[in-house]
Amino acid sequence: MPLNVRQVENAKCPSNKPMKVFFDADGLSLRVTKNQMKSWIVQYQLNGKRNNVSIGSYPKVSLVDARKECSVIKKMVSDGKDPKIVRQMQKAEVAASETLETIKNLKTLSSKQLEKINEYVEKYQNVPGALLPLMHAIQDDFGFIPEESYKFISKAYNLSIAEIHGFVTFYHHFRTHLPGKNILQICRAESCQAMGSENIENYCQEKLGINYHQTTEDNLITLEPVYCLGNCACSPAIMINKEVVGRVTPKKIDQIISKARED
Ligand code: FES
Repeated sequence: MPLNVRQVENAKCPSNKPMKVFFDADGLSLRVTKNQMKSWIVQYQLNGKRNNVSIGSYPKVSLVDARKECSVIKKMVSDGKDPKIVRQMQKAEVAASETLETIKNLKTLSSKQLEKINEYVEKYQNVPGALLPLMHAIQDDFGFIPEESYKFISKAYNLSIAEIHGFVTFYHHFRTHLPGKNILQICRAESCQAMGSENIENYCQEKLGINYHQTTEDNLITLEPVYCLGNCACSPAIMINKEVVGRVTPKKIDQIISKARED
């Protein structure tokens, strides 16, 4: 059965904007909307009903490829298959295999952790600016933002992996690795710097044998920079786990580290 070409010059795109429609001899139509999003639309008639199916956008799909796809659709129609339904099934298969792939890539997360991430994703899905509270919730629970969760979040929030990665790495608060048992944060903001925080950070790095964003070999202490702990009056300040300590000296640091190692 030949494809039925129908001209719909007064058609409107879903956002109700008028669109121009150009037709090709093979039954292909190139639909051009006001925002210049162009898609190839094949119109066909099956069992007396008219329908159309999109086969991609131009120029991503070239005219040559569109013609080839058009022949495939013609064959489907002549075999009595509905191209729209066949394509929907193909899309569903791809989506299912991508979901499977996503789950496989989450191999380092337990099913419980996966459930938790899912819970947080759903909780913030409709909240404006959801990414920030979502990441806080995940980090508060897991101690870091597992990279394996990016794919999962990107699907749910319709963002690219690069956007999520950019977001996580933009805020120094977010970690991409599991920290040690204790987190020692040293304030590097103005007031603390003026009061000698640089000496404190050098002292800590030397004593622990690590740099910022690293964890000691015994996995007990992770060293991180922070930018103001709200304790400027008592600079230089540090935070050990959730406890802020002011007027820090190397002696105080020794005590803090020994205590953290003992606990
Ligand atoms: S600058 Fe360090 S606590 Fe404010």
